[in-house]
Amino acid sequence: MGKQPNLYSFPTVNDLAPGLRHYVVQAQNSGISRHGTFKVAVSGGSLPKTLAAALLPPSTAPEDTLDFSKWEIFFADERAVPLDHADSNYALLQAELLSKIPAELGAPAVHPIDVAHLDDVQEMADQYEKLLVRNFAQRDSVKLPIFDLILLGCGPDGHTCSLFPGHELLRESDAWVASIEDSPKPPAKRITLTLPVVNHAVKIAFVATGGGKKEVLKQIFEDGTGLPCALVNEGGGDRVSWFVDDAAVEGVSYPRRGSL
Ligand code: 6PG
Repeated sequence: MGKQPNLYSFPTVNDLAPGLRHYVVQAQNSGISRHGTFKVAVSGGSLPKTLAAALLPPSTAPEDTLDFSKWEIFFADERAVPLDHADSNYALLQAELLSKIPAELGAPAVHPIDVAHLDDVQEMADQYEKLLVRNFAQRDSVKLPIFDLILLGCGPDGHTCSLFPGHELLRESDAWVASIEDSPKPPAKRITLTLPVVNHAVKIAFVATGGGKKEVLKQIFEDGTGLPCALVNEGGGDRVSWFVDDAAVEGVSYPRRGSL
């Protein structure tokens, strides 16, 4: 394995927000200078709320400025439900973050699932993959899309996106987007980016907070158990950064990074 993932720990979730902001703005700025846009994928769970706490406060310096007009937002995973459903990751992101972005920061281009295919989740995954192909490059000219940043959560069982421990989807090596109909976390029907796509991003960040995460973080960082989050750590090496609060890593033996 190459260099190790970075672990940034903060006393509380509130202290984590400025660090996460600094990291996201840097990823934004380098995406824009590389290709004029910032291509980011986001998960559901607690992430949209933490992201809002990081990104919505006013900027403190020119280099700390968000330019949402250059953002292309995709979903790292999404549930097969209407876009206004209580289980929709799109609806969650809309409520927590998108609807609160001040107009002067610009409006991001947001890429939700095509709800015409709610009853055929494989077709929904295929259509989302086609959307990525249109946005990133032709499928035959690139093996995998390169997101500037993928923002992930970590479930208490070590899942990330909708990639669950021991599930056959972890062995998917061809598709960019896969469907799942037996997600152990409800709702059962979802689509998800695949592990090769996650591991291919320029940067990959996990946000995990609260004491409920410490047992699984021990397994991920101390044992490298083959859990989905551990597979991202292995595949991404030092392109992976974890933003956690102290409660989530209490008792976890792994070196914390001092500064970003
Ligand atoms: C989903 C999420 C999922 C989430 C983790 C962590 O759609 O279910 O994308 O992968 O990120 O379950 O969730 P918490 O941050 O709420 O613990």
